[in-house]
Amino acid sequence: MILLLLGPPGAGKGTQGELLAKELGIPKIATGDVLRAALRDGTKLGKEAKSYMDRGDLVPDDVILGIMREKFESDETKDGAVLDGVVRTVPQAHGLGVMLAKLGRGVDKVMLFDIDDEKLVARLSSRTVCDKCQHPFKDREPGTKCEKCGGTLVRRKDDEPEAVRNRLRVYKDQTAPVIEWYEDREAAPLKIKADGSPEEVTERALRALKEK
Ligand code: AP5
Repeated sequence: MILLLLGPPGAGKGTQGELLAKELGIPKIATGDVLRAALRDGTKLGKEAKSYMDRGDLVPDDVILGIMREKFESDETKDGAVLDGVVRTVPQAHGLGVMLAKLGRGVDKVMLFDIDDEKLVARLSSRTVCDKCQHPFKDREPGTKCEKCGGTLVRRKDDEPEAVRNRLRVYKDQTAPVIEWYEDREAAPLKIKADGSPEEVTERALRALKEK
């Protein structure tokens, strides 16, 4: 199963991606995580992505499609994957579709996490993430040890208020049209209410996957 997760910044794609990947027994691939790891390791990819990410702008489409090509040409995705935040523009949706078709594969399900803007802003302003495994935490102080891997919790630069405002703008302008693109062509997105506890949201998501 290739399951694609869509939704605004802070909707819980990372949190749900992890839980769903575990339930479905497939890996989670998040372009945001790949880019942040590259940034941390100071690679060419990280240096190229840094200024876009810090501002909350999108990294160019060809960079993202290059990352996805590498992932789908490797064994890592042979049983499928949960794709978190991987498609954010119509050219990315098209490019991913073409690339998967060449490999005899395709996106099986698209899931859209839906939540009000003010809840997103509140979530992002109280988030820290592990600098090693990237797990997101709620209401934990920066500098605390990550209970999953022993890394250190940090604030993301793009969780500063100005970058958050820009990310929401970018989502509305460039990513929202992707929803319609999938409605017209491949799989109509399963709309999941993203408030309530993370476990409640996972339950709704799994139920929606079974029903469709
Ligand atoms: P990325 O890291 O993907 O950021 P994002 O899409 O803005 O999403 P977030 O990670 O902020 O939020 P999320 O929906 O995963 O929520 P989370 O689970 O953390 O991308 C970062 C940047 O990389 C982009 O801005 C761009 O520059 C670049 N990039 C990445 N992919 C790209 C692409 N395809 N094209 C171009 N550029 C790309 O949850 C948020 C918080 O809420 C956490 O604290 C969490 O603990 C909490 N929470 C989660 N669920 C719940 C719940 N049910 N109740 C209460 N709290 C909850």
